[in-house]
Amino acid sequence: MAALEARDLVYAYRTKYRTVYAVNGLSCEFDRGRMYAIVGKSGSGKTTLLSLLAGLDTASEGEVLYDGVSMLGMDRDEYRRDHAAVIYQSFNLFPILTVIENVMYPLLMKKAPKAEARAAAAEKLRSVDLDETFHDRLPSMLSGGEQQRVAIARALAAGGDVILADEPTGNLDTENGRNIINILMRLAHEQNYCVIVVTHDPSIAEQADTVLRMQDGRLME
Ligand SMILES: Nc1ncnc2c1ncn2[C@@H]1O[C@H](COP(=O)(O)OP(=O)(O)OP(=O)(O)O)[C@@H](O)[C@H]1O
Ligand SMILES: [Mg+2]
Repeated sequence: MAALEARDLVYAYRTKYRTVYAVNGLSCEFDRGRMYAIVGKSGSGKTTLLSLLAGLDTASEGEVLYDGVSMLGMDRDEYRRDHAAVIYQSFNLFPILTVIENVMYPLLMKKAPKAEARAAAAEKLRSVDLDETFHDRLPSMLSGGEQQRVAIARALAAGGDVILADEPTGNLDTENGRNIINILMRLAHEQNYCVIVVTHDPSIAEQADTVLRMQDGRLME
């Protein structure tokens, strides 16, 4: 069964002067074990689609299903906490927490004992190629690529199986960007995550298992 399914999704931003249909009748399935790239011009609705898939917002029409269950009947905060993690261009780490504390955070939120959380966080950090020499540093003492890897490790620690990334390489140079994409690919192919990446970069899209092109809130064939 698909991890995520978008069914006839419509999302409208209503402002005083006009209504913008950012997503306008979009249906698609996303499987585990694959990396999807969503590409399209600025304003085509990529970020809006991602926030619907992340349960950050509810569609005006249509629905998103996780494991075949409509999110309309779900606690969306719980969905985000337990099943789906979002990664942003700007990393969004907690600046006053160390690397290991950042990754432990979702585990402690779930009431994991501290020692257990620390061990699990160390393992997630290892899986993104960050060893213990990084643990006690603050995010500001890391390169952009390293910070993004911490953000991925934190997403993994949360324990879901869906990773949604909005321009995760947008603030990185080519080499660090490629490194992040390789890690996301590895998570899809070796650990069976469903990975969905919004990107402007054609060379990233090229590596994905499936490329989805958005235009005016719809998917093009
Ligand atoms: N908060 C908002 N209020 C009103 N309109 C919005 C809002 N956010 C986005 N939009 C509009 O919705 C449309 C889709 O925006 P969205 O951010 O999803 O595009 P995008 O494909 O992610 O673009 P980019 O590549 O620039 O990030 C655009 O026309 C945008 O102007
Ligand atoms: Mg966007």
